[in-house]
Amino acid sequence: MSETPTSGTPTSGTPTSIAAGASPVELQAVTLGYGREPVSTYLDLAIPSGELTMVIGPNGCGKSTALRAMARLLPPRAGTVLLDGRDIKELSTRQVARRLGLLPQQSIAPDGIRVAELVARGRHPHQGPFRQWSETDETAVAEAMERTGVTPYSSLPVDQLSGGQRQRVWIAMVLAQETPLLLLDEPTTFLDLTHQLEVLDLCQHLTHDGDRTIAAVMHDLDHACRYADHLIAMRNGTVIAAGPPAEIVTTELIRDVFDVEAMIIRDPVSATPLVIPMIQRWSYQRG
Ligand SMILES: Nc1ncnc2c1ncn2[C@@H]1O[C@H](COP(=O)(O)OP(=O)(O)O)[C@@H](O)[C@H]1O
Ligand SMILES: [Mg+2]
Repeated sequence: MSETPTSGTPTSGTPTSIAAGASPVELQAVTLGYGREPVSTYLDLAIPSGELTMVIGPNGCGKSTALRAMARLLPPRAGTVLLDGRDIKELSTRQVARRLGLLPQQSIAPDGIRVAELVARGRHPHQGPFRQWSETDETAVAEAMERTGVTPYSSLPVDQLSGGQRQRVWIAMVLAQETPLLLLDEPTTFLDLTHQLEVLDLCQHLTHDGDRTIAAVMHDLDHACRYADHLIAMRNGTVIAAGPPAEIVTTELIRDVFDVEAMIIRDPVSATPLVIPMIQRWSYQRG
């Protein structure tokens, strides 16, 4: 089953409202890459509005690259990126920053910066020469820190925190930006189980009760199946399948995407697909 992106036809000049069911962000036949060999060619991908989308796929298959293109950090060599139905090229930096927040896979904090200061940087798109720091900014920062559980560290330097604490500070910064669209690249990778579940619950809450749209790259397939409304499975720069986890996660899909033989059972708690890899003797001759 491959993705058929809905065409985000620009209907008017107002990028601030998203038509129900439309994709806030969409890649249309994009070619993406860094060097001579492209990472993706003719990649079509649409993030459904108001849902929690999770992107899975092996290392190096182009997940982060696709997210970067959606955030306009990497311009496509061909094809179009649509943000709320408009070509992202035509939007100002501030317009993009008010629509989407990106949590990159590896973020490096400026030397010596404290937690509250870093989270406050999420408010930059809302600042301007005539719009100074306000109570709204203060509240957004406090709420973002509260939701990610980093309030107790607010005055500590970020570089003194553990990897997991630091990751939650970055998530707080993206939340403080208060964008309707969040792109999170491996938001749970450095977290212990408790904090992974907290972040995933928060993502679910933000989408189902909070009108946000989230696309997150995930490595844990079972978490992805439990939490995603929409799953996108990628390999070699293309989308192999997209849809609700219960519809697309099969033995064949896991083989096609990861070269792993697996049995798919129903998660006894959530009734979502649970991927049980078969025991394999990995050959050391494997390339
Ligand atoms: N900044 C970069 N410069 C050159 N090549 C890159 C860069 N970032 C990623 N790549 C290459 O692009 C391919 C896709 O990478 P990436 O999108 O990061 O994969 P994923 O996120 O799925 O692990 C990989 O082969 C990777 O080595
Ligand atoms: Mg990546």
